[in-house]
Amino acid sequence: MHDFHVRRGQLYCEQVPVDRIASAVGTPVYIYSHHTLLDHFHKLRRAFRALQPRICFSVKANGNLAILTLLVQEGAGLDIVSGGELFRALRAGCPPGRIVFASVGKSSEEIREALRRKIFCFNVESIPELLAINAEARRLGCAAPVALRINPNVDAHTHRYITTGTAESKFGVSLEAAEAFILRRWREVPAITLLGFHLHIGSQITKSAPFLKAIRRVGALIRRVRRAGVDVDYLNLGGGLGIVYKDERPQTAEAFANAVIPVIQRLKVRLILEPGRFIVGNAGILVTQVLYVKPMRTRDFAVVDAGMNDLIRPALYGAYHEVAPTKRNGQTATRLYDVVGPICESADVLARERRLPVLKPGRRLAIFGAGAYGFVMASNYNGRPRAAEVLVKNRRWFIIRRRETPEDLLRQDVIPSALVKS
Ligand SMILES: Cc1ncc(COP(=O)(O)O)c(C=O)c1O
Repeated sequence: MHDFHVRRGQLYCEQVPVDRIASAVGTPVYIYSHHTLLDHFHKLRRAFRALQPRICFSVKANGNLAILTLLVQEGAGLDIVSGGELFRALRAGCPPGRIVFASVGKSSEEIREALRRKIFCFNVESIPELLAINAEARRLGCAAPVALRINPNVDAHTHRYITTGTAESKFGVSLEAAEAFILRRWREVPAITLLGFHLHIGSQITKSAPFLKAIRRVGALIRRVRRAGVDVDYLNLGGGLGIVYKDERPQTAEAFANAVIPVIQRLKVRLILEPGRFIVGNAGILVTQVLYVKPMRTRDFAVVDAGMNDLIRPALYGAYHEVAPTKRNGQTATRLYDVVGPICESADVLARERRLPVLKPGRRLAIFGAGAYGFVMASNYNGRPRAAEVLVKNRRWFIIRRRETPEDLLRQDVIPSALVKS
């Protein structure tokens, strides 16, 4: 499942001891496995080979330029949600014809830039947005290819912050609103080419059932609009495939594909997938170092040098990440720890009540499953430069993002001279 393993008491990423990297570049550091990354991409592609889908990696899960470049070289497209991600995708060498663009709040500048670049498709999240894209396309004298994102009102049975396909969520257009607009008002958007529909019902979904329910609902819509003479070529299923963080038993790519392929074949649509977490989640770890140990009554605090500014998932979602020392030196004594960061927030807890070997300052810990929604969500809160990122390929390792410096923290600040006392 991933290429992090213990050999003679030492944690390795592929063929490189994690401690060797941490000694060279310091901590905190994100470390990714090249093999795991590509293996996950190929697993999905193999599972769905009968349909030859477009697989657009979701840049929001991990936007590192080297990682995007690798996936694009393997034939992936990219799923973006902003002008910034479009810029990144193009820098990574992604042909615009492989880019799909979601987001409930695309600005007119972002729409124009995407039209000028001739991306494959806008995943449109509301009727006002559809009208805005139409207006921009008319101004530029081009056609805008779109998929309407449908909110199918399906509960994905995941964390409420990452469920996106229920009626209360801000994403997409209801089935009724989409049908009404397509059948009665489509002449208002002459510059729009409808490619099909888009779904993304949530993230970290461990079963196929919610996906199938959503496809059934949008399938009924596809049949109805086709009966009225509307062409529908594509269905974009979004991302959302769950991975193992703790003891989840998510469906495999094979099982997911076996459930989905016949339904898609019956619908006679071409498939697009937008996986993020599935590809990169378990391909990355965050390595941190114990600074202090604070004994408490019921357990100890291991204060480490990575905080919620480096990995916000535990604070934001109560997410579980496995934690283990990078070196196991045969020691058997254990203690109960809360692994906490240096940030001045009580929520800055990376792991709660974990039984770990007795920790001392200087001991390094690996936080697993940090490859998706890890570094991309990092911030400079509390004046902390963001961590370095490293990619391991077999016996070699490469810095793919340098650690930020204090100078980086100040780069965009301006002190207006008119405000400075002379
Ligand atoms: C529209 C869309 N597509 C794809 C993804 C990727 O999801 P995941 O990382 O769960 O595969 C997301 C994540 O939020 C998304 O919003």
